[in-house]
Amino acid sequence: LLPETRRWLAKGEGETNDPGGRPSPSRLPVLETNANSFCSYQVEGSPEKDGRGPTIWDEFCKIPGKIADGSSGAVACDSYNRTAEDISLIKSLGANCYRFSLAWSRIIPLGGRNDPINQAGIDHYVKFVDDLLEAGITPFITLLHWDVPDALDKRYGGLLNREEFPLDFENYARVVYKAIPKCKNWITFNEPWCSSILGYSVGAFAPGRTSNRDKSPVGDSSREPWIVGHNLLVAHGRAVKVYREEFKPTQGGQIGITLNGDATYPWDPEDPADVEAANRKIEFAISWFADPVYFGKYPDSMRKQLGDRLPEFTEEERALVQGSNDFYGMNHYTANYVRHKTGTPPPEDYLGNLETLFWSKSGECIGPETESPWLRPNPQGFRNLINWLSKRYNYPPIYVTENGTSILKENDKPVEEILEDTLRVEYFDTYVKALAKAVSEDGCNVKGYMAWSLLDNFEWAEGYVTRFGVTYVDYEKDQKRFPKKSAQSLKPLFDSLIKKD
Ligand code: NOJ
Repeated sequence: LLPETRRWLAKGEGETNDPGGRPSPSRLPVLETNANSFCSYQVEGSPEKDGRGPTIWDEFCKIPGKIADGSSGAVACDSYNRTAEDISLIKSLGANCYRFSLAWSRIIPLGGRNDPINQAGIDHYVKFVDDLLEAGITPFITLLHWDVPDALDKRYGGLLNREEFPLDFENYARVVYKAIPKCKNWITFNEPWCSSILGYSVGAFAPGRTSNRDKSPVGDSSREPWIVGHNLLVAHGRAVKVYREEFKPTQGGQIGITLNGDATYPWDPEDPADVEAANRKIEFAISWFADPVYFGKYPDSMRKQLGDRLPEFTEEERALVQGSNDFYGMNHYTANYVRHKTGTPPPEDYLGNLETLFWSKSGECIGPETESPWLRPNPQGFRNLINWLSKRYNYPPIYVTENGTSILKENDKPVEEILEDTLRVEYFDTYVKALAKAVSEDGCNVKGYMAWSLLDNFEWAEGYVTRFGVTYVDYEKDQKRFPKKSAQSLKPLFDSLIKKD
């Protein structure tokens, strides 16, 4: 590791609950590998089929200018109607596990604990899980990947409601655990940072709220993202408690939350303020959620900057949240150089009083451009961040629940060229090898790796132009799936790295 990397990795040490907990390095013991992730709204389509209720994303996509190409997830990859085809595809690529999210509004169309349950929606997912298992593929279910039932948003402000939302989520989780006992791997939320910051501060994601508006149900709109984050944590805690008390004893299984976060390097490794800021950036992204889950409190850096805009846990809430992860779900894509800022940050600052860049002071670059303005490949950052997390949270089991890349102007290329996705092949090759080193040389406890994503799909505010799939989808013609070179590269890559016994 570079000297500056060592320095900021050491930053995680202060909060580690048992610094002696580092396991000995081993060979890559990845059990669930070469899998692929999916989110209901990004692939399913069929927004009205079998009684599905509307979600905040259905509504958000209707607002002109919100989605780059004016599209929505109304058709997407039509995966709701193509489950058999998609399962054969997963199998043919040699994946042994598959992560996907359920649409809450297919199961309880109006979302709430007193609202009717939709058996047709449940039956669909039960069959999907049965079919995956039949094909030898382990399901990982995410309960909510951003598509909150719209009725809850209209009824009581959705994620903003501290009393109602966690109880409704708990009820939904219970209905699902009961209906799908064969699933043994559960993720409560995907990337709560995005729901909170992009949905309630930047406004780029549903429901499209922004900080510093005049009217807010919570008074000051710059409080909204932090309240949403808090409510998601408590809802996570409630859903985990129900699983552990009512289902785990008979069903077995494990449950966690998936968090996103970039790796960071100080812009100027000689400047202690930049080194500090590089650490703070991760605290504002990851530790915001992971510190309450592992330590029962928010990071000091956030409390210092946000004051009472960051809610306090009641004793009951803290007890629900602390210790609520059986594993850490890691979504990871890129790295940044971080430069500290001076002066008082404005209320809408959510990064931690700093700026992020793709170049360091001495002119080093994070990596080549991709179609996503926020993403540049940097595999060393992946290894660094796995180490940072492991050190701070005492080497928890980690599942990488998303990792992948878009490619600059991929959508403009003829199909034959799209299928030759060399950059993506190299991305997976270098990232998976960096992960293998984090396990075999650094002693981190990574249990599984899931590539994002099986198919090109609806990339939220970017619409369909940005493609993340290892499989090309011909949206315009017939939704046919064409595996790219990267799709074929994952199985041999893992076969060359994992422990065979
Ligand atoms: C993370 C999100 O979970 C997923 O929905 C999205 O498509 C990927 N990042 C790529 O941006």
